[in-house]
Amino acid sequence: MDEPSTMDDGSGQHGNRHPVHRPVLLREVLMVLELREGLVVVDGTVGAGGHARAIVPHIGPGGVLVGLDRDSEILVPARAALAEVEAAGAGVRVSLHHLAHSQMHESLAAIGQSRCDRVLLDLGVSSMQLDRAERGFSFMADGPLDMRMDSSAPESAADWLASVGEQELADTIFQLGEERYSRRIARAITAERRRRPIVRTGQLADLVTAALPGAARHGRIHPATRTVQAIRMKVNDELGELERGLQAAVACLRPGGRLAVISFHSLEDRIVKHFLRAHCEVVTKKPITGSPDELRDNPRARSAKLRCGIVREEVA
Ligand SMILES: C[S@@+](CC[C@H](N)C(=O)[O-])C[C@H]1O[C@@H](n2cnc3c(N)ncnc32)[C@H](O)[C@@H]1O
Repeated sequence: MDEPSTMDDGSGQHGNRHPVHRPVLLREVLMVLELREGLVVVDGTVGAGGHARAIVPHIGPGGVLVGLDRDSEILVPARAALAEVEAAGAGVRVSLHHLAHSQMHESLAAIGQSRCDRVLLDLGVSSMQLDRAERGFSFMADGPLDMRMDSSAPESAADWLASVGEQELADTIFQLGEERYSRRIARAITAERRRRPIVRTGQLADLVTAALPGAARHGRIHPATRTVQAIRMKVNDELGELERGLQAAVACLRPGGRLAVISFHSLEDRIVKHFLRAHCEVVTKKPITGSPDELRDNPRARSAKLRCGIVREEVA
């Protein structure tokens, strides 16, 4: 399952909130990427710059780190984090762009590069996004029902919930949220919106909780976790973006270049697995998961799966 939208620890479990974003599977990512000096690396989901910061020292001098994120707000801390490592004198050029990973060719063209050597995608939302109630990803702190990763995108979660048909809503909650009570929840949402618009995260969370049978309200994760995840994935077209991002990555990578993807949802992992088999020599026969220590310390890592492939040499 994906990392759910909670305010506590990003795991969807009721527990302590962790204030610092910890890059998931960092050691494993560095291992499969096989970095060396002079490489051009695209971090297609740069977020707060956790992985990127760790990559930079391995590609200097002469390397280039291109970081992309759909969320312009998150590029502010990323810029600060990467300015520090740049200043530390690794001799690496860092270039950050407010773009989706499916647009990575534009970011490379903007810095005069046509191809790259490594691509990393760490999917989903970051804990920084979850922690900002006004972005509407969280239901533990009430906020506007937004959930757009790119705030300039036309449709928020509230807009989508106002117009989607009940059947499509139920199917989305079932498929993207893997929520067995999807029909009851869809019925409750469409009934509620006839009374008043659904515009707050707290309102949605209460509505979903009330729609569930008693026993389902007291599980390991918050009862609205799966529904909120499904709505977020739909509003941001996360599976469509993943398909387009993978295509863009193999188009931009030089033959012999490496593509590493961390996913959190079984549907994402399936897409990545099939894509790598079709387009790459697969490095990770089985997905890499977190070490026992990481799984204990970082709840977000519990559903993370890392896969990596090498882009095949072009046949003349
Ligand atoms: C899990 S966080 C990445 C964290 C980052 N690896 C780090 O260590 O700080 C995922 C990030 O990807 C961004 N994102 C999600 N889908 C994207 C897409 N299609 N294109 C670009 N960025 C995307 C989100 O806005 C979020 O900031």
